Amino acid sequence: MIGTALAAAAGFPEAPEKALMLQYCEACHTLDSIAGAGGSEEGWTDRINRMIRWGSAIPREQVPQLAAYLANVLPPRPDPESLPR
Ligand code: HEC
Repeated sequence: MIGTALAAAAGFPEAPEKALMLQYCEACHTLDSIAGAGGSEEGWTDRINRMIRWGSAIPREQVPQLAAYLANVLPPRPDPESLPR
């Protein structure tokens, strides 16, 4: 069992990509802060590439896979500007 991380991860459907996210995205911020975002596959690709510049160790060849997963789970929001930050 992964323990307490499970609670925050509950909203994310089980998939191989979820393990990528837990491994490479949770080091710097919570899953909640990821769940608060949304975007197209292209948008997520840009964002993950930015995370690599910040220091995420996710291998580049796995970026398309994770971007597709996140775009599916967290699609673009109609009006992101109006959401509370
Ligand atoms: C090395 C630290 C680090 C890792 C690892 C990391 N991030 Fe980030 N993330 C940041 C920082 C710093 C910010 C705030 C600055 C910014 O938005 O560029 C941020 C902001 C965000 C945001 C909110 C801003 C936005 O674009 O909407 C999202 C969503 C996000 N990260 C997703 C991810 C995902 C998905 C991963 C895994 C691929 C990840 N992060 C891995 C450092 C990291």
